[in-house]
Amino acid sequence: MSKKVALVTGGTGGLGAAICRSLADQGFTVVAGYNSGGNHEKAKAWQAEQKADGYDIHVAYGDVTDTASCEACIATVQELTGGTVDVLINNAGITRDGQFKKMSWEQWDEVLTANLDSMFHMTRLVINPMIEKGFGRVINISSVNAQKGQFGQCNYSAAKAGIHGFTKALAQEVASKGVTVNTVSPGYVMTPMVAKIAEEVQQKICSTIPVGRFGTPEEIGRIVTFLAEDESGYITGADMSINGGLHMS
Ligand code: CAA
Repeated sequence: MSKKVALVTGGTGGLGAAICRSLADQGFTVVAGYNSGGNHEKAKAWQAEQKADGYDIHVAYGDVTDTASCEACIATVQELTGGTVDVLINNAGITRDGQFKKMSWEQWDEVLTANLDSMFHMTRLVINPMIEKGFGRVINISSVNAQKGQFGQCNYSAAKAGIHGFTKALAQEVASKGVTVNTVSPGYVMTPMVAKIAEEVQQKICSTIPVGRFGTPEEIGRIVTFLAEDESGYITGADMSINGGLHMS
């Protein structure tokens, strides 16, 4: 049987790379979608680093805020792997933090477009082939801050909460077709996104996490891969929290 094809958007980023490696460890053919501001050399360098570590991961350019670019990305996946996407990880995301009273429309719009509109652009392109095949996994990366809100993140919390609604609605539409749709909600994980929070703010946040530390990207990769596996077909419309106890629902 041919290996299942997994596409991870934002695949060359902090969380994305760990997700790619975890999926590769479990035998998936993995494609890391990247934008990197169109810096193809950076993506190629990332790919070479993975190769040096023993990971054969494809890379495919795609701007998740743009339907035409997503179409080109999916076409590249097909060329590279000879197959359609069996597992889509909607992981690409950005922050533009700031208090709402000072927030610009651009800060709002960029975050909603990259984190929420991207769900439409990418998922819309893979869902019909999944339905036709009778198998699919869509795994959307949300955040603890969708569940609890976060000072300075009205834009991000709104977008990430929107992902929960999208997940549960789509899960109902495709459940009978062998396609599952789930959300993973990480807490604070040590990635470049968290590293750019001011040091003293980081320390304050860390002191509120019951487990007493930030998460690792590998801890998130593990749960994403679990949801991607054939054996997880009875889990759909679910939200997997992995936040060190920062928020318990
Ligand atoms: N609750 C209540 N008040 C708070 C607060 C909080 N959590 N944080 C700050 N404040 C208060 C401060 O005490 C200060 O009050 P005074 O003016 O009375 O002194 C006021 O708000 C202004 O605080 P700042 O000086 O920090 O304001 P700023 O505008 O310079 O910075 C900020 C605001 C950029 C949002 C900064 O607070 C910050 O970086 N916060 C962290 C945001 C965060 O958690 N981002 C997550 C990024 S990682 C991610 O998103 C991944 C994921 O999914 C988890």
